[in-house]
Amino acid sequence: MIHLIRGFKDILPEEVALWQRIEAAARDLFERFGYGEIRIPIMEKTKLFARSIGEDTDIVEKEMYTFADRKGDLLTLRPEATASVVRAYIQHKLHAVDPAQKFYLIGPMFRRERPQKGRYRQFYQIDVEAFGIAAPHIDVQMIFMLHNLFNTLGVGDTQAQVNSLGCPACRPGYRQALTAFLDQVASQLCEDCLRRKDRNPLRVLDCKSPQCQQAVADAPAIVDHLCPACREHFDTVTRTLKTLKVPFELNKRLVRGLDYYTRTAFEMQTTALGAQSAVAGGGRYDGLVKALGGPDTPAIGFAIGFDRLAEIVGQLQQPPTSGPSLFIAALGPQAQQAAFEWLSRLGAGGMAVEMDYADRSLKAQMKRADRLNACHVLIVGAAELEKGAAVLRNMATKTQQDIPLDGLVKELETLIK
Ligand code: HAM
Repeated sequence: MIHLIRGFKDILPEEVALWQRIEAAARDLFERFGYGEIRIPIMEKTKLFARSIGEDTDIVEKEMYTFADRKGDLLTLRPEATASVVRAYIQHKLHAVDPAQKFYLIGPMFRRERPQKGRYRQFYQIDVEAFGIAAPHIDVQMIFMLHNLFNTLGVGDTQAQVNSLGCPACRPGYRQALTAFLDQVASQLCEDCLRRKDRNPLRVLDCKSPQCQQAVADAPAIVDHLCPACREHFDTVTRTLKTLKVPFELNKRLVRGLDYYTRTAFEMQTTALGAQSAVAGGGRYDGLVKALGGPDTPAIGFAIGFDRLAEIVGQLQQPPTSGPSLFIAALGPQAQQAAFEWLSRLGAGGMAVEMDYADRSLKAQMKRADRLNACHVLIVGAAELEKGAAVLRNMATKTQQDIPLDGLVKELETLIK
């Protein structure tokens, strides 16, 4: 037997119901706030991701599924969606109509990470991006929508962690201060961090090794080095979050794993999944549109780890799933033929309807109707065909009535709502 690829997974129908519920809640929320759905390819030229996510990030260094196509062009299965949305925004000149544009998308991403609970090589993201809005209000709207969506889904114990990563005016000064600090503690840093120290020192703050975490415990924090404009922006974000009663915590160590971020960065953390604690993450990336060849455009976004969110919501009590409105228990080939025709017409007319295609005993068919949680069962066998009326049983009240075969579909459509 051929098994699926390590780190990939199937989402079976039972679980899909939960995914659809989450997706519906997300779409509903985003559309209320003016975000329109965008659909983009799952593959792009490798250099798009290398240039936007950053050459020195874990994602680009070791996690991308990259291959040469027949002509030798390097292509990559998207490890995230932001770079592609920016590409589409620039390529279709969406800024020309109105620079302020808001998008969301839902789809699979690919990263060759070490698989474990909550971490997959194909995983799904619910991604949101807003372009052309410099006001700190849009930063708040991102975190507010996350908080609101999680609340709607009954996930109460998530906490937004926020930080500011500064801008090209204040980051170089901070970088210098951080590198000077890291030079002093260099002997305690892991091999990866020694390399990161000079190329991408902020990443050292994000290292998971306990030894490195201890070494950087007293490292200077970027929020203490912000320029006046970044300071004011961040203060408005935190003040407005408080006004809207969105719980959050300042996390001075939060740096994110992608290089394009500026100013506000945030993550939604949870303890529900053990080690994989981030259910969502995002932030501002005011320089990326320009860096990829577009006009100077501020932007911000986030992505929710759909698999992780589904695992958390799945641990909560689920609302009962409703079964078919009607199950047709048909006995014998002639009744099966009639049942199939009724089922097709009722289904086309909008009713959720099911039957047993194997023509088993009435007992077996009633058992299946029960298991499916059907609201009504229509029983039809040779005797009913002869009599010219089938029996409709209400499974909740256990009452039965005869339904004439003549005009049966219409009659059922009026009786079963
Ligand atoms: P990210 O933090 O790399 O950000 O990913 C966002 C979320 O995707 C994570 O918080 C996590 O829940 C989920 N995730 C990431 N990797 C995996 C994995 N291997 N298995 C399961 N879930 C995973 C981004 O991707 C940015 N593009 C977000 C963004 C949008 N920033 C601005 N706009």
